[in-house]
Amino acid sequence: MSFPEGFLWGASTSAYQVEGAAYEDGKKASQQDIINKDSYEKFGFATAEVASDMYHHYKEDVALMKEMGFKAYRFSIAWSRVLPDGVGEVNEKGMQFYKDLIDELVKNDIEPIITLYHYDLPWALCEKYNGWLDRQVVDDFMVFTKLIVDEFKDKIKYWTVINEQSIIVQYWTQKCYIPEEVLSDNQKRYQINHHMNLANALATIYIHENVPGAMVGAALGYSPIYPLTSNSLDVMAMQNAQALRNDYYTDVYFKGYYNKAAHIYLEQHGLAPIMEEGDLELIADPRAIHDFLALNNYASECAKWCGEDEKEIAWSGVNRSGKKGDISGFETHPGFYEMCKNPKLDTTDWDWAIDPQGMEYMLRDLYNRYNKPLMITENGLGAYDILTEDRKVHDEYRIDFLKKNIQAVERAIDKGVEVLAYCPWSYCDLLSTSNGVKKRYGFVYIDRTDDDPKQCERIRKDSFYWYQKCIQSNGKELD
Ligand code: BG6
Repeated sequence: MSFPEGFLWGASTSAYQVEGAAYEDGKKASQQDIINKDSYEKFGFATAEVASDMYHHYKEDVALMKEMGFKAYRFSIAWSRVLPDGVGEVNEKGMQFYKDLIDELVKNDIEPIITLYHYDLPWALCEKYNGWLDRQVVDDFMVFTKLIVDEFKDKIKYWTVINEQSIIVQYWTQKCYIPEEVLSDNQKRYQINHHMNLANALATIYIHENVPGAMVGAALGYSPIYPLTSNSLDVMAMQNAQALRNDYYTDVYFKGYYNKAAHIYLEQHGLAPIMEEGDLELIADPRAIHDFLALNNYASECAKWCGEDEKEIAWSGVNRSGKKGDISGFETHPGFYEMCKNPKLDTTDWDWAIDPQGMEYMLRDLYNRYNKPLMITENGLGAYDILTEDRKVHDEYRIDFLKKNIQAVERAIDKGVEVLAYCPWSYCDLLSTSNGVKKRYGFVYIDRTDDDPKQCERIRKDSFYWYQKCIQSNGKELD
């Protein structure tokens, strides 16, 4: 069977991680401009001010995508570029940027796959009411959604509404503005998620009702979870972790309700979101059910049993240094599960388990359970690339990672899973959400450092040429 005709080969990015021009042509700050300014001061990671400067290089970028043979490009729209104050006056110049980008893609036969929200809430809404913490954001998100859908409904078929709700819950301070006084209140993580579910449901209904033939989904950060051992308690821990970390999101998208085991756990621990009358009915509305799932998969995770007397650790730490093993603690929920390192797998320098086989397992498991088409909208290897004196980047480790993942996607397709697209992370190097620009993912090298944006010159890496051949042969030529 292998990759079908019309398979959407491409790659992904997100607005604030590539565009730059953070305060140009009427754009105002998003929460990511503020969060990344703080990360620059604390850790020396680049700000979002220039990023990969795609705002000024988009034509060259689409030409490079075309040269690689892309059939699709997944990217997000910066809410603060089109509505600088979150609501109110439209910034025509900002809107024009997306019109031009989408026209350029369509002209080059590259299918635009849109993400409406990728971590970058307008800062004005954080100042006004603390952003996603306040239910008002749901109505404001709809103002933005209607604007974008009405503008682009004739050009866009694939819509992903919110990027990585599960990751926003886990790593909320990197992905959202969270005021000091709320930091220790873990219930608020699930409150934010509930607001996102309402926004997602309303946006999905709006797209279904206004865009004939549209396919709507979520881009979910998803890692399959394995038990540390075959001991049945570890297997139960794996099931509990799967419920709270994964099914809690996918059940909403496809079944229209919160996963029961996860929700009961949250209620028992005072973490469940506060809901209003009609919320559960809205989530269950058949028009709010998704048509496909877009998966952002980088790694697999591992869980083990954890006794009632262990200490609660709300979430696993983040490796900021890029030195293997430099991760502070694993998420621990006494009597439910504890996340741990998988001793069978090697990791990246940032401690992400390298597990291409997990890709096949994830695709088959999700397709069996929900029977909906799947897309890969992120998958990739963050690494320290070296630009040689003759201005080449020999990233054979990335080629090896992507090759094994593509083979895993192919095995899943061969077992009957419907996969629509493979759009790894990322088209070009960009600003990482947790580690600056020195952690690179792209097929195209961006010549800049965390301290110095230079000219952001584009340089084709070895993986660029390799992916070009892969696409030309519809996934057959991988060596
Ligand atoms: C996903 C996000 O979580 O992972 C991207 O959707 C992000 O925005 C990617 O860049 C890789 O994570 P990081 O922290 O290495 O940038």
